[in-house]
Amino acid sequence: MSQENNDNKNNEFPELKNDTFLKACRGEEVPYVPVWIMRQAGRYLPEFKSVRADVDFFSVCRTPELACKVTLQPLDRFPLDAAIIFSDILVVPQAMGIEVQMIPGKGPFFPNPIRTIEDLSRVQFPVDVNKELGYVFDALTLTRKRLEGRVPLIGFTGAPWTLMTYCIEGSGGTTMSNSKSWLYKYPTESHKFLSMLTRVCIDYLFGQIKAGAQALQIFDSWSNELSPAMFKEYCLPYLVQIGKEIKAVHPEIPLICFAKGSNFALEDLSKSGAYDVLGIDWTIEPSVARQMVGERVSLQGNLDPCVLYCGDKVIRDQTQKMLESFGSTKRLIANLGHGMHPTHPIEGPESYVKAVHELSKQMINK
Ligand code: CP3
Repeated sequence: MSQENNDNKNNEFPELKNDTFLKACRGEEVPYVPVWIMRQAGRYLPEFKSVRADVDFFSVCRTPELACKVTLQPLDRFPLDAAIIFSDILVVPQAMGIEVQMIPGKGPFFPNPIRTIEDLSRVQFPVDVNKELGYVFDALTLTRKRLEGRVPLIGFTGAPWTLMTYCIEGSGGTTMSNSKSWLYKYPTESHKFLSMLTRVCIDYLFGQIKAGAQALQIFDSWSNELSPAMFKEYCLPYLVQIGKEIKAVHPEIPLICFAKGSNFALEDLSKSGAYDVLGIDWTIEPSVARQMVGERVSLQGNLDPCVLYCGDKVIRDQTQKMLESFGSTKRLIANLGHGMHPTHPIEGPESYVKAVHELSKQMINK
């Protein structure tokens, strides 16, 4: 265990100056709709590319000084209402002894994926997260200090199903035939693998809170590959377990679940009591999502990232439409429906953040 994480450092962190995001997570009154953007730190920023020119992706993640530096980069450009720690969901498979490389221009690559159920014996479990992921905790603690209370710091993990998919497929962009056929052919082993991943995710999230994370997001980026029945069996129970175990100890930490594209699941997730906020992508009309979840949770989303290519006027018009469709500025966090692209112009997020702040203020003060 690293020295930095031996005890909760909350008392030593600078006082939070902008708590709009945390208030929106809890459904409290806000002066404007807070906004942050998934993958707000990334290759669309020249200053990120210049860090990456000298250091490979996972070395940035593993070096707290660098992870902290790139986490803060988008905040120095745009008045975002939250920071998200720079890392990756695939640090969890790495912590379980599964090698993951990041191939420039291609994305994640697993040289030895978990193809057969016999391969499960290669997975390291249980995992001492302080030993294997202490570098993320150190990056969180350092970033929380360097933020000087400007905005809250979000920690995150991938969801069990999304992590299992990567481990079995060995890369993104596949038909998912290997990982999905596991679910049909080997239900017992699939549940076993998902349970192992769930345990590591929970321990990892507890460590992130201890290190200074003020909210947590669970990314289930590939949940949309599953039918409603398969989602109910292989995603929902684990997502609920994660939320409930964290909530039982840390009810003060907002939890966000982003089960991308699994729109049918919004009602169940909102009724589970495991999450404060549900993320949505652009494949659902905000008004429909709101109807499904009622006032039980806050919503986060959902502008199509491609709008950010289209200039200030289009961005402003689409933002207005989105805000109106949510129906209320309460219980709302503006974000995109997925992450920033490397080819996005800097002006895109700049216009979006400005539009959300200005238009929501007008709506609140009307
Ligand atoms: O949001 C942030 O700014 C925090 C950082 C963050 C990254 N990855 C940085 C990153 C977060 C929250 C993630 C999560 C993540 N990683 C997800 C869930 C969100 C989603 O997009 O659905 C997933 C599926 C991954 C796996 C992953 N990591 C992929 C598919 C890729 C390749 C993407 C690409 O466009 O090449 C990565 C690499 C990655 N993670 C990059 C960044 C900035 C780019 C790699 C680089 O700098 O070379």
